[in-house]
Amino acid sequence: MCGIVGYVGGKTALPILVEGLKRLEYRGYDSAGVAFVDPGGIRVTKSKGRISVLEHQINCSEGATTGIAHTRWATHGAPNDVNAHPHVDAAGRFALVHNGIIENYAALRTYLSNQGVTFATETDTEVLVQLIAHIYDGDIERTVKRALREVRGTYGIAVIAADEPDTVVAARNGSPLLVGIGDGEYIIASDASAILSHTTHVIYLGDNEVVRVSPDSIRTTTLDDIPVTKDIEEIEWSLDQIELGGHEHFMMKEIFEQPDALRDCMRGRIVPEEGSVHLGGITDVARELTRAKRIIMTACGTAWHAALVGEYLFEDLARIPTEVEYASEFRYRNPIIEDGTVVLAISQSGETADTLAALNEAKERGALALGAVNVVGSSIARSTDAGVFLHVGPEIGVASTKAFSGQVAVLAMLACYVGRRRHMSQGGASEFLTALSRIPEQITTILEQDGACKAVAAANISRENWLYLGRGYQYPVALEGALKLKEISYIHAEGLPAAEMKHGPIALITDQMPVVFLATRGTQYDKIISNIEEVRTRGGRVIAIATEGDQQIERLAEWVINVPDTIESLQPLLTVIPLQLIAYHAALLRGCNVDKPRNLAKSVTVE
Ligand code: AGP
Ligand code: GLU
Repeated sequence: MCGIVGYVGGKTALPILVEGLKRLEYRGYDSAGVAFVDPGGIRVTKSKGRISVLEHQINCSEGATTGIAHTRWATHGAPNDVNAHPHVDAAGRFALVHNGIIENYAALRTYLSNQGVTFATETDTEVLVQLIAHIYDGDIERTVKRALREVRGTYGIAVIAADEPDTVVAARNGSPLLVGIGDGEYIIASDASAILSHTTHVIYLGDNEVVRVSPDSIRTTTLDDIPVTKDIEEIEWSLDQIELGGHEHFMMKEIFEQPDALRDCMRGRIVPEEGSVHLGGITDVARELTRAKRIIMTACGTAWHAALVGEYLFEDLARIPTEVEYASEFRYRNPIIEDGTVVLAISQSGETADTLAALNEAKERGALALGAVNVVGSSIARSTDAGVFLHVGPEIGVASTKAFSGQVAVLAMLACYVGRRRHMSQGGASEFLTALSRIPEQITTILEQDGACKAVAAANISRENWLYLGRGYQYPVALEGALKLKEISYIHAEGLPAAEMKHGPIALITDQMPVVFLATRGTQYDKIISNIEEVRTRGGRVIAIATEGDQQIERLAEWVINVPDTIESLQPLLTVIPLQLIAYHAALLRGCNVDKPRNLAKSVTVE
C-alpha cells in the first residue's frame, strides 16, 4: 500500500530516496517517482511500473540534497506515468507526494479550475499541490497548513518548494509517517524499513501533525501551528530482519521463521509450570478486561481469521461472550457498545484503515480499546488504551504467515491470562501453556514436510477451484488456507465449516475439485470423517491435514500431510503451516509473484 520517502541533509538525496523506495516495495504499488530541488528548480522523474525501471531514468546533480519519493497504489486515476507521484503545480515550483485519499478533491478541483488553474492528472492528489501553489505566501510550512485545513480525507504527505531548497514539510492524517533523525539529516518515511539503514532514532507523527525539517532543524506542530513535543524513539528491528536472509522470497523466509518468531512472541510471557501469563502491556487494564461482559474482536483478512480462533479461545478459556466483526462492516453499522464491552483490534501492520476506524468507533462509544499488533508505533497501537505486541519481527511478504501465528499465539496467551483470573484452574492453565510452549518445535517438524506440500500443490496445480473444510477450531484455518491460496496463486478457493457442505456447496464436488480437510484428532473427528466420505463418494479429490499416526485417514485421502498432536485449541498453529506451504508452492508453480501478488498491498491504509 504505497509509500513515501523524503530526505534533507548533507548527502545527495537520490541514492537515499531510491534505496528507501526499494525497502518499501513490499507494501505493494503500481508506479513510482522522485522529485528533487535542483539549482534550476524542481526536477521530477516518475513512471508506471517498478522502481528498478524508474531508477535508470533519473538524473540529478550531486548538489540535490533535498528530495521526496513515492510508490503509488492508485485510488483516483489509472496507474500510469502521468498519474504517478510526485505531482507538481503548473509552474513547477512545488512537488508533493501523498498516501491516502482526499475525499473533497472534486470540490477543490472545481474551485481551483474556476480560479484558472489547469490540471494535468486524474488524481485526487494533484488538487493539493495546486492549492498550495495557489495560496503560497512565501512560507511553505504555513502554506501547507492552510491548504490542509481545506482538506477532508486521509493523508500522509511530503512537500518541497523551489524557493525553500533546504526544507521538506510533511504532514499526516490517517496514513503513517515517521521521521528518522540522523546527524545533520532527516529521513521521512511511511515505515521504519526505509530509515533503518541510516538511523534507529525516530519520531512518529500523529494525526493532524506537521513536521518541517532542514539539515539543522526540525519543528513539529499541529495543523493549527501549536508546537508539539515529540519523544525520540528507537526502532526495534535490525536490517537483516528486513532482508531475505538467503531465502528466495520473504514469504518462504517468514513461513520458516515461525518457530523462532513464536519463541520471540512468547518469551518472558508464559510460565507453564506455574500456569501463569505475564503481559505487561495490559496490566493497567487487567481488572476491567477480566470483568468484561462482552469482547468484540475486529480485524480484516488473515487477522480476522486469527480473531475467529481467538473467539473460540476466549469463550473456552475465559468464558466471556466473544464475537468477531469485520472491521469494514463494524465501523459503519452503528454498533451497540454497552458498559463492560472490550474491543480488541488485531492487525499485523497496525495501519489497516478499516481496523483503525472500527477501533476508534468503539472507543468513542466507551469500549475499552485493546490491540494485538505487530508494528510498534503504528497507528492502531497508538490508538489503543493497552495492548500486546506480537513481537514476530517485520513481516514483508504481502501474504501474512508468521503474523497469523503470532496473532493466534497472543490471543491464546490473552485468553489464558483472563481465564486464570476467572474460572481456569492452575492445572488447566499449566497444561495449556505447556502445550503452547511446545508449538515452535512442533512447527519445525511440520516444515520438514515442505516437499510433501509441494507435491500436493503440483498434483493439483491445474485445478481452478479448491475447497477448504474444517470444524470448530479448524474452521478459521480452512478460511485462512483458502485465502492464502487465492491471494498468491490466483486459484479460486473457498473455506467453509465442513458441515455446511450439505447445505449447497456439495453440488460443486467433482473429480476436478481438490477438497482440503483439516482432519486432526479432536471432538468432531468422526464428523469430519463422515464429511470426507461424502466428498469421496462424489469423486472429490481429498487432501487431508491429519494427526501423525492416523491410519484411518491414510485410507480415505489421496494426499495426507501429518502434523504432531496437541490440544485442540492450539491445533490451528500447526494445521495452518501445510496450507501456507501448499499456497506458496502453487503460486511458484503458476509463475506468480509470491511476495507482491497482483492488486494486493501489504497494508491497506485506504478504505
Ligand atoms: C493476508 O495474507 C493479507 N495480507 C490481508 O488479508 C491482511 O491480513 C489484512 O489486510 C489485514 O492486514 P493487517 O493484519 O496488517 O491489519
Ligand atoms: N489517492 C492518491 C492517488 O490515487 C494516492 C494513492 C496512494 O496512497 O498511493 O494517486
